[in-house]
Amino acid sequence: MKVCIALTKGRLEEQFLEYFQLLSYDIQPLMNKGRKLSVETDMCKFIFAKGVDVATYVEHGVADLGIVGEDILLEYQPDVFDLLPLPFGKCRFAIAGQKDKDLKNRKRKIATKYPNVTNKYFRKKGESVDIVKLDGSVELAPILGLADAIVDIVETGTTLKENGLTVQEFIHSISARCIANRSSLKVKRDVLTPIIDAIAPKEGVR
Ligand code: PRP
Repeated sequence: MKVCIALTKGRLEEQFLEYFQLLSYDIQPLMNKGRKLSVETDMCKFIFAKGVDVATYVEHGVADLGIVGEDILLEYQPDVFDLLPLPFGKCRFAIAGQKDKDLKNRKRKIATKYPNVTNKYFRKKGESVDIVKLDGSVELAPILGLADAIVDIVETGTTLKENGLTVQEFIHSISARCIANRSSLKVKRDVLTPIIDAIAPKEGVR
């Protein structure tokens, strides 16, 4: 019974592979995959997808485990087991905008890929805002006048800086997480346990 692990393409995939290599796993087959979206090694089958789709593949049991950003779990609340925080993919949810923007006491318009997280945050804060959902490059919205500010994840801060935006408020810190399909955890327990133990952060590995 081979284990299937879904990886979030892009930055998280790179950081996971670096981490996996630190744990003495051979990542060459995963590094040399070209445009292939699935790769089999002796140990596992890996599939590569967008974060929200990683959660969907795990929820539906196509993948047993998934490596996904906590932002996806908070926004989409998939029905998966949130197993472990991982020592990479560390970033923060923040509100950002242009400096000294005059709002003239009107309701703020917030652009984001995360309407649920944004709604929850402003509700808790007691501020009524209009939310505009975008699918990416949200930094454009305040520059082009679509919104007063954005709610987004900030990792290095480079995207904000290069687009003339600054953080106005940090919401909270997040990291990559290892998620699991609920029934795989029972049915494939014997094969999953050693993999989960290997992936679990150890003292000294940050
Ligand atoms: C994410 C996020 C920011 C950027 C932040 O976008 O939405 O745009 O990364 O990273 P930084 O602080 O290191 O610059 P992503 O790269 O996922 O692309 P997207 O804009 O298409 O969503």
